[in-house]
Order: sequence, then structure tokens, then C-alpha cells
Amino acid sequence: MSAGAVGAVFAKPGLVIESATAHVEVLVCAPDGAALAHEAEDVGHGHTRRLTPLVTQALARAQVEPRALGWIAADLGPGSFTGVRVGLATAEALALAADAPVLGASALAALALSSGASRALLVPLVPGGRHDLYAGFFRADLRGRVTLLAAPRVAALPALLESVAEARALLPRGSGLRFVGPGAAREREALERFAPGSTGPEWRFAGLSAADLAAAVRSGLGPAAGLPVPGEEARPLYVRSAQAEERVRRAALAARPIRIRDFAEPDLPVVAAIERRIFSDAWPESFFREELSQAMAWGRVAEADGGLAGYLLAWVGAGAGHVGNLGVVPEARRRGVARALLEDLLERAAAVGATTLTLEVRVSNFAAQALYRAFGFRLAGLRRGYYRDTGEDALTMAWTAADAGVAPAVSGRGGLAQDAGSPAGRPTTTNPG
Ligand SMILES: CC(C)(COP(=O)(O)OP(=O)(O)OC[C@H]1O[C@@H](n2cnc3c(N)ncnc32)[C@H](O)[C@@H]1OP(=O)(O)O)[C@@H](O)C(=O)NCCC(=O)NCCS
Repeated sequence: MSAGAVGAVFAKPGLVIESATAHVEVLVCAPDGAALAHEAEDVGHGHTRRLTPLVTQALARAQVEPRALGWIAADLGPGSFTGVRVGLATAEALALAADAPVLGASALAALALSSGASRALLVPLVPGGRHDLYAGFFRADLRGRVTLLAAPRVAALPALLESVAEARALLPRGSGLRFVGPGAAREREALERFAPGSTGPEWRFAGLSAADLAAAVRSGLGPAAGLPVPGEEARPLYVRSAQAEERVRRAALAARPIRIRDFAEPDLPVVAAIERRIFSDAWPESFFREELSQAMAWGRVAEADGGLAGYLLAWVGAGAGHVGNLGVVPEARRRGVARALLEDLLERAAAVGATTLTLEVRVSNFAAQALYRAFGFRLAGLRRGYYRDTGEDALTMAWTAADAGVAPAVSGRGGLAQDAGSPAGRPTTTNPG
């Protein structure tokens, strides 16, 4: 569905399902956004049992037939796995009956966008189990415009507070810090010890709100505000994988070897085709060719299942390096391909004595930020409005050998290899499983 068509659906009433936590809300919205009916209940673990009756009740009270709905919105998470799944499945079933689109927003973006904060690092918190919290990172400017700052994280409070400090360092001096959402209510004392005044004024301490979700999906703001691209399929944002999925994934991972070798001339059209598939601002083949001819170029590709699964292009010299491009084909993701390419890059950095590595990444690219963070890259800077297509900011992330406890060694080679079939002169990196 196009972005324009999404706007048109709001001419009809809509249904909003907020079920990412135990506090469930269902809202029926008029075309002007006014509430026609609103149901709220603390369901505990009873999402499966309670959501449909609440939806039925709300529609009856609003006197809206399911097939008259123009749009249905659900919370994409993070939060309760069951709550998010039941909410999305219910929204999808209703959408099928009404021939209407399913829209969505993350719990964190809905909280951030409704908070009314200005000139602050804005950290929405949602409980994520007994000790853990899901945290989002947004910035609110002087005029109260809220934009996404970095990928969400799930962790216990001490680790999250380290990320808060890291994100805060990116904002101008004098910026405030504000924690909002039900997770802030749970950890209020510790948050106030960390930063006095950071939990006031209280926002959504009693639970997530369907009205916030409705406002977020109707806003039309895209990835720059931490919302899905308008018109794209609503996908859940779990932040951490479900345990069962994790087991299946790890089993598949163990079975598939990954081979890393030099980026060769015949790889150029293949890589350029992958690039067009996975990036909205793809590098053309000529750009790869030119960059690979630079003295410090480090171009490598990953092969898996007999095909080219991923590639990395960096510039690495004595002292410092920069990652220019990294991509993995969608079918080969979450199987360690990027991990293998980055491990290989760090070996190269050690070999030539590069003690710092930097890169730029979109604020909305959660997968890449999680990947780089896992390798010890940390937030180091913010370039506002860097990506023209979405108006998103770019994060600079930096890795230092000292922080990673790595000692630099001696020099090697890189650049564009002449023969795709020739031995790469580098050890084959195999998936660690
Ligand atoms: C980002 C990208 C390169 C990751 O490639 P990948 O081969 O799927 O990543 P890996 O399987 O090696 O993941 C290694 C670690 O990174 C993190 N990670 C990768 N993808 C993630 C995701 N979607 N969500 C959360 N964490 C993720 C995890 O910590 C993962 O370890 P785990 O699987 O043990 O949990 C890939 O998603 C991609 O090509 N995206 C589009 C292009 C792009 O964004 N490039 C980077 C531009 S800066």
C-alpha cells in the first residue's frame, strides 16, 4: 500500500489494540481521531482469553460493524510476547474481514511521541520480565519534535543506564533526561538516584495507552520518528528473540559453513545487484570498483551454500579504519555471515595496526546497531538529517582496540582481487556455530 493510500484509510473509523503489556486497551476512533469507544482492562496473562471480548465490546459500544473499519492498528512491541502476538493476530483477522490494512507502532515510539518532552534525551521504558526492561532512545528538540536516536535495548537497569549515558553524550550540553512509561514507574527510585528529576512529570506510569498508539499511527511520521515506513507491512519489534526461535536458528547456524575471501572483479555485478535489493540508497557498481582500487581498501565477500551471501568494504590503514559498506542477502541473515565478515575485518585491523574503526549507521537500522554493539562499537556521534530519503539522522559508531583489549600487529594486503577463484591469502573464516 502506498503512503498516500494509508492516509486515505483514516476517512473511515479505525480500531486500535494496545496489548503489549498486561494493561490492555481497545479504542474505536472516528475519522477525526475522536474516541467512539474505549475499553481498558488489566488482563494479567489473559491476553488470549480477554482481547476478543474487549474488541467486541468496544465495537458494539461504538456501533461500528467490523467490516466498516478502514484501518486496524496494533502495538508492535516490545513487551509481552503473547500480548504482542495476540494483538497482531487479532488485528490481522479483523483486517481480513474488513479488507483494511493493519498499521502499527512500537510501544516505545508511541510513548516517546506522546510524552510532550522538549530538549531532552527521552527514554521510554517497558517492563521486559522480572529484572529486564525494554528501553527506547529518542531525542526531543526545543520545539518538542521527537526523533529516533538509537536502537532499543533490553537489559537489566545497570546495563541500560550505561547506554543512557552513551546516548546522552550525543546531545547538546544542557539537554535534559526523561524516563517515561510503565517501566519508569517500576524503577523510579533507582532512576531518580541516577538522575534526579528524570522521572517527572510522570508519563504513562499506569500503563500503555491506545490513544498514544492511535496518534502515532495517524501521525504519518516514518522511520525518522521511530515508526514503520508508511504503507509497509506491520512487523513485530520483539528486540530479543523468542527462546524457541533462537534454538531453531542456532541449529541451522551450526550446519552451515561460511567462507570469507577477497572481493574479486567478477563479484562486482553480483554485489551491486544485492546492494540494489537491500539498500534504498544503493552504491552503483562503478562506485564499488572505484573504492576497491583505493590503497587502503579492504573488500571481502562471504560465501554460504555455494552462493555469495554477503560483502564488506572498508578502508583500513595504520592507526584507523572506516567501514564503508556491509550487506547480507535477506535469505542468509541471522546466521553469522556479518559476524564472520566483521571478525575478518578485526583481524585485518590488528594486522595493519588500526586501533580505531568508525562507521555510520541509520538510527532506524536496529539490526546493524545490534551487530556493531555486539562487536564493541559504541555510539560516538550524531549527524542530523544525514539520510535524504527519510530525513533520518546517522549515528557514528566507533570501535577502539584499547576498549576491546586487542593489540595491533603487522601489515598484510587488501583491495580488489583479480580472480574470484584464487585463494584469498586470508584464512577461511568458518561460522563459529
Ligand atoms: C545488519 C546485517 C548486515 C546483519 O547481518 P547478519 O548476517 O544477519 O548478522 P549476523 O547473523 O552475523 O548477526 C550477528 C549478531 O548481530 C546482531 N544482529 C544481527 N541482526 C540482528 C537483528 N535483526 N536484530 C537484532 N540483532 C541482530 C546479533 O547480536 C547477532 O548475534 P546473534 O545472532 O547471536 O544474536 C544485515 O541485517 C543486513 O544486511 N542488513 C541490511 C544492510 C545493512 O543494514 N547493512 C549495514 C549498514 S551500516
